[in-house]
Amino acid sequence: MKTTIATLKKMKEEQTKITMLTCYDYSTAKLMDEAGIEILLIGDSLGNTILGYEDTLPVTMEDMIHHTAAVSRGAKNALIIADMPFMSYQTSVYDAVKNAGRLIKEGRANVVKLEGGARVCEQIEAITKADIPVCAHIGLTPQSVNAFGGMRVQGKSEEAARELLEDAKRVESAGASLLVLEGIPAKLAALITESVSIPTIGIGAGANCDGQVLVYQDMLGMFHDFVPKFVKQFANVGDVMTQAFADYMKEVKEGTFPAPEHTYKIDDEIIERLKC
Ligand code: KIV
Repeated sequence: MKTTIATLKKMKEEQTKITMLTCYDYSTAKLMDEAGIEILLIGDSLGNTILGYEDTLPVTMEDMIHHTAAVSRGAKNALIIADMPFMSYQTSVYDAVKNAGRLIKEGRANVVKLEGGARVCEQIEAITKADIPVCAHIGLTPQSVNAFGGMRVQGKSEEAARELLEDAKRVESAGASLLVLEGIPAKLAALITESVSIPTIGIGAGANCDGQVLVYQDMLGMFHDFVPKFVKQFANVGDVMTQAFADYMKEVKEGTFPAPEHTYKIDDEIIERLKC
């Protein structure tokens, strides 16, 4: 059954935890979909994990559409959320609606995600008026890395915590259907979760959100450039891959790969005739 916004709302009401993972390609989307993950997020974290940038700021609409379309082709049941990249919605409400529309039409996303609270409510209202569901994202929002002066946990002082609680209520009133809470204290995330009726999805925000999201290369131990405190490695796929690459190299160099079972045959007589 295809996951919808209504499914997620019901899950919050029934206190069933929601699972979301980042995903950037067709074959990984198929595996996550088969595992039953409810939401696949084409995060602009692909700037780090796929494209090797040091932050998410250089990611373009074209990058996002390319990867969103690949994930959409691989997922039958999961809800597809695509990130709006830096400067695709901050510049104007018009740009926000136009670019959200491209992620839906060209990328075949179901929902778009944008970073910010009260300051992006105009954009959230306009996008939802165009019948495009929105996931808001507050807290340690990576597109604000320069404004924050680094990637720091947010909402620790009373003033900052109050502002995030207000942001959560404002994005809900503006029409957001989901809310990602990133890099904030667990007790604040729990308070926000009980203060809004839309599902909250946490990353570095403790266990009391309605759901959780992780970057898949982080949870599979495939990305070591930086590993935040909130990451749990559920497998060490990075080591398995490195070993497989080394084994392949060894066998090619020794001449043991390809073996007869990996090889196509032709009648010897044909080869002999070709030699004449
Ligand atoms: O870009 C991303 O992967 C994200 C998640 C970390 C929530 O926004």
